This record gives sequence, structure tokens and C-alpha cells, in this order.
Amino acid sequence: MNVHLTIHGRQGLAGQIYRQLRAGVIDGRLAPGERLPSTRELATQLGVSRKTTLDVFERLVAEGYLRSRAGDGTFVAEEMTRLAPRPPRAALLRPPVELWESLPDALPMPSRDRPPEFDFLGGVTDKALFPFDQWRRCVSHALRVLARAPGGYRDPAGEQDLRLAVSRYLAFSRAVVCNWQDVIVTQGAQQAIDLLARVALRPGDVVAVEDPGYPPARTSLLAAGATVVPVPVDGDGIVVDRLPAEARIVYVTPSHQFPLGMPMSLERRLALLDWAQRHGALIVEDDYDGEFRFEGRPVESLKSLDQAGVVAYVGTFSKTIFPELRVGYVIPPAPLGAATRRAKQIGDRHSCTMTQTALAKFMLDGYFAKHLRRMHKEYAARRALLRHALQHELSPWLTPLPSSAGIHLVAEVRGADPAAEAMVIARAAAAGVGVYGISGMYVASRSRPGLLFGYGGIGTDGIRAGADRLKTALGRLPS
Ligand SMILES: Cc1ncc(COP(=O)(O)O)c(C=O)c1O
Repeated sequence: MNVHLTIHGRQGLAGQIYRQLRAGVIDGRLAPGERLPSTRELATQLGVSRKTTLDVFERLVAEGYLRSRAGDGTFVAEEMTRLAPRPPRAALLRPPVELWESLPDALPMPSRDRPPEFDFLGGVTDKALFPFDQWRRCVSHALRVLARAPGGYRDPAGEQDLRLAVSRYLAFSRAVVCNWQDVIVTQGAQQAIDLLARVALRPGDVVAVEDPGYPPARTSLLAAGATVVPVPVDGDGIVVDRLPAEARIVYVTPSHQFPLGMPMSLERRLALLDWAQRHGALIVEDDYDGEFRFEGRPVESLKSLDQAGVVAYVGTFSKTIFPELRVGYVIPPAPLGAATRRAKQIGDRHSCTMTQTALAKFMLDGYFAKHLRRMHKEYAARRALLRHALQHELSPWLTPLPSSAGIHLVAEVRGADPAAEAMVIARAAAAGVGVYGISGMYVASRSRPGLLFGYGGIGTDGIRAGADRLKTALGRLPS
């Protein structure tokens, strides 16, 4: 790769090159250990004599900015890490738009430098059980397809093969009937929600979200300029009677309410659909982990019950494969389809073709279904173990909430003390156990102290040992 240097005129060439390279090292653009081009390459690149570049390199080596290794090349000296970064210049630009300055940090990421020994982090999946060999084959296939295809941008709605695979999967497994043309491939559920907000909202519009609810969805809607009204949930799901009449979007997680975990009852689903139909509101159904249902009868998705065309169905591969894949999809109601496709194109042209082609093959060749079956069995065992620990060993302090699906459980912290949640988290952390509070996911409703236990990233041995540790740590707390 060429190093970026500019030469003005033909005077003081060595000095110009010297100053720019030295400045690059000092301000960190040239990282410690980075290899520089040879003096011959640099001379050709800049149109100067080889002697000029040789003199510059010798001087920088003598001054300690560069190191040369015989027969290997010239590198930025490792010691340069000690140089302090240049302080930022006083702001010349206007600050960002107020809305963006005031948005909450939607997606806080726990520091992963030193993860707890037993980590019940939510939103992660078990990569050790992912069939990377099969995935590698699918990626190789995708690379071959890509190499043969003419270069250029692709359909913003996604690769036909993947849209077909998703539509078949949804019809078969989720009872969502759609044509492949209705599916728009996105970068996860997050982009799907963002696209829907862009095309369905006007500034100041009211939207309703579950309370407690999924913070990144709420923030996405706030970012679209909406007035977001938190609506309480009860054991059946969002309380339809409390929806603001002027809401233009209602965002819900019917398969597995986030974070509490209960499914939305059929009665409530029908009431919500009826409400949306009467008010002309769009329902965003986020079916983020409904693939993993462990008990009870399956309840029809809102999309499949929707006779009026008011539901946008959102899905993701973040829980079934892993979140770094960044693949999800949305099936908007027909009248929003073209605008959503356009919004996708304006946002990022389209999702990565190679990933889409690999994923389509992974699905169409049956690997995905096989992986789901395996993970379902594994997560069922983990869930049973965790539930048992919560209901027995940990019952003096915690009460698990009913939940029939997904890859996390929530347990309420016993007692009314609002500080109890933080206290339990701190005790657990000191004992090497990572558990995560949910009280921050309430907006207006009175928050109830609770803990989220993800079991996607911790195996049965870890669950057993982590629960034991937690019990010992909490044993010292007044129950
Ligand atoms: C409610 C909810 N929706 C969606 C997602 C996944 O989002 P994405 O597909 O953008 O990774 C999650 C992940 O934790 C979630 O909890």
C-alpha cells in the first residue's frame, strides 16, 4: 500500500518527505510496527531520486522514529506508542443535531475485557456449537458465485436466493405466509426497525412501545423524531387499553416479551390487531427469538392473524446464528414495501452479497434447520437447569417469571427494595458471576427489580457452577 505523502514543487524534497513521515509517526497515523514502503518504491511513487528517500529514512532511523531490520524492511519504531495523541482542536463545527446529542445510549456494550467467569450475558449465542465447517463451505460457494458474477450493486431488497429461503422458512416454521418478493433483507432487526420508522413516521408522530421494553428499538424510534409513549405490559402482553389513540406505530415482541419473557396471549393479539385496524396504526412485530419455543401451544404470529395489512414482521439471525452476522429481514405491509426498499438502498445500497449468498445456501441445503434442531435441544437443557436453580437453590432471593421461549429468563428480585437489584448484581460480580439488571428497561411504569439470565453463551456446566456461586454469594445477604 502507498503511504500518503504530497510533494509541492521541486524544492527541499527531502525536507518535505521527512516532515510528513515524522508527523505521521508522531500523530499515530503511522502505527508502531507498521512497515513502510522500500526507499525504491517510495522514490518511484513520489517521482524523486532514490538518494532522497534513502537520506530521509536514514535520518528518521537515526532519530529513533523508524527502525530498519536488515533484509526485512523499515518499520515505525515500537517505542512510538509512548507518544501522547495530539489533543483535539477546538470545535469549529456546529454540534450535532440536538436530537442526536440527547439520545440515550441505546446499545450499551458491557466491557468484555475481563468477562465474569460465569457469564449470563443476554443476546449472545454459543459459537462453539455453530457448524463452522459447513458455514465455510457455504462461504466458499458464495465466493465462487461472486467471482463469476459481473461487478456492481445488487437489489437493495437482497439476494433472491436468501429472500426465497427466508420466505420458505417463515411459512414452514413461523406460519408467516409471504412471497419471496415481500422479504427485504436488512442488517439485523435493528435496521429493519430503523427503516420502518423512516418510512412510516412524520416528525412528532406518536409511537407506542412496551414498558419495560427493548431499549434499542425505543431509541431508534426516538431517533426518527417520534414521541415515544411507553405502554405497560401485563401477563398477556402490551395493555391495549392503554395505547395512545394517536399512535402511528406500536412496537411489540409477542413471541417472547423483551425483557420479561411471557408470550402475548391470543386474545391480546386479536385485541391489538383490532385496535391497530381501527386507528390505522402500523404494528411492528419483532420476532427476535421465537424460534426457540419450549412449552405451551404455538400462538399465531400477528402477521399471520393480520387480515387488514397493518403488521410489519421483523426477524433476525442474531439468535439463531450469531449477532455479528448482521442479517435480519422485514416483511412490511404491501403499501410500505417500495418505500422500505428505497430506504434500504439510500441507507446502505444493500446488505453484503457474499454473506447473503452463503446464508441462502446454508438454509437451502438444510444446514440451518439442522443447526436449529440442535440448538433447540441444547437451549432446552440449559433453560431447564437454570429454571430449576432459580426455583429451588436461588428461590429465597429470586423468582423466575413465566416464559415459554427464547434464550434468556428473567427472575424478579424478592422484596420491594429498589436497590436490591444493584446489590445482587454487585454480589454476583464479586463472586465471578455476570447477571444483568432489567430495571433500566422500564421507562414510565414502576420498575420491579429483576435480573436477566441469558443462557445462549453459557453451557450446562457453567449454569450449574454459576448458580452455585450465586447462591453462596447471596447467602450472605438478608433474604
Ligand atoms: C427484542 C430484540 N429484538 C431484536 C434483537 C436483535 O437485534 P439484531 O437483529 O439487530 O441483532 C434483540 C437482541 O437482543 C432483541 O432483544
